[in-house]
Amino acid sequence: MSYNLLKGKRGIISGALDENSIAWKVAEKAHEEGATFVLTNAPIAMRMGEINKLAEKTGSQIIPADATSVEDLTKLFTDSQEILGGKIDFVLHSIGMSVNIRKKIPYTELNYEFYQKGIDVSALSFHKMLSVAHKMDAISEWGSVVALTYMAAQRTYPFYTDMADIKAMLESIARSFGYHYGTQKKVRINTVSQSPTKTTAGNGIKGFGDFFDYADSIAPLGNASAEDCANYCITLFSDLTRMVTMQNLFHDGGYSTTGVSMGILDKMGIEG
Ligand SMILES: NC(=O)c1ccc[n+]([C@@H]2O[C@H](COP(=O)([O-])OP(=O)(O)OC[C@H]3O[C@@H](n4cnc5c(N)ncnc54)[C@H](O)[C@@H]3O)[C@@H](O)[C@H]2O)c1
Repeated sequence: MSYNLLKGKRGIISGALDENSIAWKVAEKAHEEGATFVLTNAPIAMRMGEINKLAEKTGSQIIPADATSVEDLTKLFTDSQEILGGKIDFVLHSIGMSVNIRKKIPYTELNYEFYQKGIDVSALSFHKMLSVAHKMDAISEWGSVVALTYMAAQRTYPFYTDMADIKAMLESIARSFGYHYGTQKKVRINTVSQSPTKTTAGNGIKGFGDFFDYADSIAPLGNASAEDCANYCITLFSDLTRMVTMQNLFHDGGYSTTGVSMGILDKMGIEG
């Protein structure tokens, strides 16, 4: 069902790699809700070609951009405004990558080159995106920017290794930039802290399947799906959440505030 929540709004959606990607679902929902937008991803991700299907389905153009490159991001914001015919109303940062996680390197032995790469791709890219947009005055007043994060920024999950530190940085950038962009241009910036989700990035984490089931049996509502996450992002892009900024918003079926569930106690053979 569509509510026309984004009718007339222009956006930039990063990170749609395949149909499991959270960004893919956000693009589908944004299209349903009446937005026009540009899709972007790293040039290397274009090789898979999947994004073309999404572009066709949503009537969008694709602008390849490496989110670590200020030059690429400048072109992204310049061309997007030209294609869409005005300033940008919403931006989704849905970008994450850790070579340390990919290579299953334990936290105590992190490779620092990989660590820096992870920071650059997954956190600094957010600052760069915001800084480029801010300099160009490319986002309209009351525009909304959302980045996706995970609760390992607050609590330790040993297998999330350097990404835990990187997500803490990402969330801090949302608060810090949110202050400046808010006071100067009324642009709002939030992070959405999403449940474990079966995507390329998610499945790359050691023991992800078991952890997914664990989180699902803790959360009173169960894990939030990528589609649910997309719905939440749409509300944040809409005018119905105009006064929400500089927040880290948990979207996790209640997982983050549950101590233990009866389901977990049952699994352990403990009577509650
Ligand atoms: N899957 C989960 O369990 C989960 C949970 C919470 C938060 N998140 C976050 O959600 C976001 C999206 O991840 P996803 O789960 O949809 O996985 P995904 O693998 O589908 O998306 C990650 C995207 O990052 C893009 N990317 C990587 N390097 C890039 C670069 N240099 N420039 C531009 N784009 C680049 C990839 O091409 C890919 O499209 C990430 O920030 C991730 O950390 C995921």
